[in-house]
Amino acid sequence: MMKTLIAPSILASDFSKVGDEVEAVVAAGADWIHLDVMDGHFVPNITFGPALIKSIRNRTDKVFDCHLMISPTDQYLAAFADAGCDIITVHAEAGPHLDRSLQAIKDLGKKAGVSLNPSTPESVIEYVLDRLDLVLVMTVNPGFGGQAFIPAMVDKVRRIKAMIGARPIDIEIDGGVTPETAPLVVAAGANVLVAGSAVFKGGTINSYRANIAAIRAAADEALR
Ligand code: DX5
Ligand code: ZN
Repeated sequence: MMKTLIAPSILASDFSKVGDEVEAVVAAGADWIHLDVMDGHFVPNITFGPALIKSIRNRTDKVFDCHLMISPTDQYLAAFADAGCDIITVHAEAGPHLDRSLQAIKDLGKKAGVSLNPSTPESVIEYVLDRLDLVLVMTVNPGFGGQAFIPAMVDKVRRIKAMIGARPIDIEIDGGVTPETAPLVVAAGANVLVAGSAVFKGGTINSYRANIAAIRAAADEALR
């Protein structure tokens, strides 16, 4: 059975001690660390940039999974690579040249991902599949944590899984992931789950451990 990876989003953590929060979720069982970068232009919220990411890079060896909700994108890719991101994901809607952006990420020696807003059809990835390491399916409209999962996205995940075939491309889900919604997307073919509020609720390492375990158990059950 393929293990479902859990990627806590530090967007939902306590920013006044974000390095400690990274260490805490890793100790609590996180597989990847999801980094939500927002510019107040592509999405209606502003978070953090490469300097913050660089400052927490030494807190763990886990994969830094960087979700860029910024436009334009290309001129900032090198800074995120230098900051220590392992996977850099751009939005298909963020610029006119998705293929060029993905090529630029690969040229920096990083894994390349594309993210799709809920209204964006999966057909946009058809001709870039060979450049992709990851597809990030937004199951909420990007910009904020704590929103409700959009059920219509389950079918999109199923279609993307079929398009990918045998290629080694991760399918990651972002938005409204809980023990209730995780089984739906895992059964449809997702193998990485981002979770913000559902992981960081409670605010202690013991609650993070229980929260991650609950999502993982629900995901595993869907694959049984
Ligand atoms: C939303 C971000 C998500 C967000 C998910 O734009 O991309 O990663 O943190 O938060 P929850 O898990 O609370 O829906
Ligand atoms: Zn995200």
